[in-house]
Amino acid sequence: MDRDNDIHALQHHLAEAGQSHLLRFWEELSVSEQQELHMEVKGLDLEELGQAFQKAMKDSSHLPGQEIMDAKIEPVPHEVLGSVTRDRAQLSAWEKEGLQQIAQNKVAVLLLAGGQGTRLGVSYPKGMYDVGLPSHKTLFQIQAERILKLQQLAEKQHGLKCVITWYIMTSGRTMELTKNFFLKHKYFGLKKENVIFFQQGMLPAMDFDGKTLLEEKGKVSMAPDGNGGLYRALGAHHIMEDMEKRGIGSIHVYCVDNILVKVADPRFIGFCLQKGADCGAKVVEKTNPTEPVGVVCRVAGVYQVVEYSEISLATAQKRSPDGRLLFNAGNIANHYFTMEFLKDVVNVYEPQLQHHIAQKKIPYVDIATGKLVKPDKPNGIKMEKFVFDIFQFAKKFVVYEVLREDEFSPLKNADSQNGKDNPTTARHSLMSLHHCWVLNAGGHFVDENGTRLPAIPCYTNGTSDAIQADVNHNLKDASDLPIQCEISPLVSYGGEALEEFVKDKEFHAPLIIDRSGVHELVKNGL
Ligand code: UD1
Repeated sequence: MDRDNDIHALQHHLAEAGQSHLLRFWEELSVSEQQELHMEVKGLDLEELGQAFQKAMKDSSHLPGQEIMDAKIEPVPHEVLGSVTRDRAQLSAWEKEGLQQIAQNKVAVLLLAGGQGTRLGVSYPKGMYDVGLPSHKTLFQIQAERILKLQQLAEKQHGLKCVITWYIMTSGRTMELTKNFFLKHKYFGLKKENVIFFQQGMLPAMDFDGKTLLEEKGKVSMAPDGNGGLYRALGAHHIMEDMEKRGIGSIHVYCVDNILVKVADPRFIGFCLQKGADCGAKVVEKTNPTEPVGVVCRVAGVYQVVEYSEISLATAQKRSPDGRLLFNAGNIANHYFTMEFLKDVVNVYEPQLQHHIAQKKIPYVDIATGKLVKPDKPNGIKMEKFVFDIFQFAKKFVVYEVLREDEFSPLKNADSQNGKDNPTTARHSLMSLHHCWVLNAGGHFVDENGTRLPAIPCYTNGTSDAIQADVNHNLKDASDLPIQCEISPLVSYGGEALEEFVKDKEFHAPLIIDRSGVHELVKNGL
């Protein structure tokens, strides 16, 4: 009887929200499937969803036209910019400040790892991906080891045992796999209590009329609510309270897919602190107008990121008198927030964040036929919030420009797509950076005849010829590929402290430097 009442209430609720079709196959479902669908639908705030859909559709149909955007968009002003190249003299002071904060346990890192990795085409979380480095470390392991190393560096400099707490946002799609992976690998040497997982929300996919789509007859099609789902999730899972208890003052937020990410970068943290900023963004110079990175800029006086999908080609191609792109502050999804700012965002501003709409090809169960349809053109939308949409609320916003070859090489696509930002480019970027570190520390590479290889590698980052050569052939056959060299983050965080291993020595590649020493893989028969 109770159950019948329950179902009537559900039918009524759905009818009011114009979503009755979700129960269309109810009679065909098993009892457990009915229970699951019931739970799923009960968990949806249909009223809020309907409003969000109306608003997002209205906003997207009123997006500023190209000319209006052209008139409103301005580059980041010079006074908020810091740069690793132009402000060389300040770097050590910023680093010192950042390390001091770390030594006092005031710095946390927050990883956005709730994405589905659709473009990469794997069914597991991207952080578990092995790009094929000599060590076969995954992205998660590389990041964990950088955290461990920074803790050691801060401890060494300040004589204080310290912790960088690692908050990891997952989604319904990535939570279990991520947690199990960390458990299996013993948290990569970090303490379990300092790695905190929490889950972002999910939103249903809808057709263009706002009707929620079914993925199966008894299952709503759900997707993570975007990396800006972070702020709601921080509140829902009491993460701010945890940060407060730990005395955290600065938070570095970053995306999982950048193999070169400088997790908790002390220079970036020190720069933001010394500028008195409550919010900051790390950027690299965008040099190609069509590169798929958002640009940090001001629109009608308000700081924001204009996504690569939102900027017109005409605007993207504009150049300054010095010949560089006018909008060249390429967002690498590395953000700095003070604790106070993040608290305000979570407690006050989050509801003001708009959903962005992405039109997608979403497989769905046809309500009329009950058959699963895989559309070949977009048939619906997913709604997402974006992590950087809170820049507008900052009282003091700063931008920190770093070098692409040192800090940015994201893993977005599969090798088979034969493009950029794939496992091969990620692997190449890391190895060519580490090759440079060895050269800078006074080491040399020699070929099989003992002849020194030129110091300037002939490898050109990410050319499609080089990528294809590496994908198709053995690395040794391709002369324009980077020297295989990998340095464990447990040995060096950013190229420091390598002289004792390499100065005035000659090496054959492939070379690995880890805590147990220097290993020439071919010589050692590995
Ligand atoms: C993102 C940035 C873009 C930047 C580019 C650099 C956003 C919205 N866009 O674009 O401006 O130039 O990186 O590489 O930040 N994620 C979640 N939950 C979600 C969706 C995504 O945690 O619901 C995470 C992903 O796991 C990933 C990160 O957010 O770590 C970025 O997501 P992705 O979809 O790859 O962003 P891009 O479009 O590449």
